[in-house]
Amino acid sequence: MAETTLSPADLVAPLFIAEGLSEPKAIQSLPGQVQHTIRSLHDEVRALHTAGVGGVILFGVPSHKDEIGSGAWDANGVAQVALRSLRDEFADELVVMADLCLDEYTTHGHCGVVRPDGTVDNDATLELYAKTAVAQAHAGAQVVAPSGMMDGQVGAIRQALDGAGFDDTVILAYAAKYASALYGPFREAVGVEIADGGNRYAYQQDSRNRREALREARADVEQGADIVMVKPAMTYLDIVADLRQALEVPLCAYHVSGEYAMIKAAGANGWLDATAVAIEQLTAVRRAGADFVLTYFAREVAEELGR
Ligand code: PBG
Repeated sequence: MAETTLSPADLVAPLFIAEGLSEPKAIQSLPGQVQHTIRSLHDEVRALHTAGVGGVILFGVPSHKDEIGSGAWDANGVAQVALRSLRDEFADELVVMADLCLDEYTTHGHCGVVRPDGTVDNDATLELYAKTAVAQAHAGAQVVAPSGMMDGQVGAIRQALDGAGFDDTVILAYAAKYASALYGPFREAVGVEIADGGNRYAYQQDSRNRREALREARADVEQGADIVMVKPAMTYLDIVADLRQALEVPLCAYHVSGEYAMIKAAGANGWLDATAVAIEQLTAVRRAGADFVLTYFAREVAEELGR
């Protein structure tokens, strides 16, 4: 009589591909997660696929950054190289997604281009997202996932993809992405530090706002988003439930780095059963209305569900 199910196919694994590594590098703040080499990335994706995980989403960790984040759309940038190689190997066996943002590639760590006064230039950033989307689609991404929260980003990306002949490429919009302290461990994972003690309050959402999420998500759907996301997950289940009610498009939530790290830390202390808590939380995200969940627990939970 269970009303809600959780299957490996409902999970998407975030993976980090780093440039210039000879061995995978452990991420201290995300126990069990690493910055991958191409070789270790292939092994991990194979293991995820064997466990039945539905897809992966790639984050690039470049060895060089610049003011505008040009590595993000470089045909030989770290993410593009990895996307090409994964699609060559796995074809359509599982879904290969690309996170689409500039923060991993910019020296100042913001998700867009920065004006001399230090503020982010929304509209100048859209052109760079458009170029990045085309580069990622060209490299084989079946899904591009803009995570920068610039206004108009979905429309700009849809237009650019269609113009370049990638009308089948799916856009997964980080639609309701809150300015959250739960992204802390992720910043170590990708080596991003925002310059001058900055933050993302100018473009990410205020955690006190609920109705605003609906406006953001509706705007994204109108601009052509195929799937919308709520992020983080557990602290925002009311938003997941709202969007499920209001929208017909597929919906997902991102169980983020801080959510993973908290459970892992408590588990390592023997204070709780980490895998059981992870399954309970991921099931709760599904119960709230998400069709699938992005989670660093993807492999561990999929393997547990398959036992
Ligand atoms: C931005 C981006 C972030 C995450 C995914 N995409 C960080 C941020 O917005 O500061 C966080 C993911 C996580 O914490 O697991 N490109």
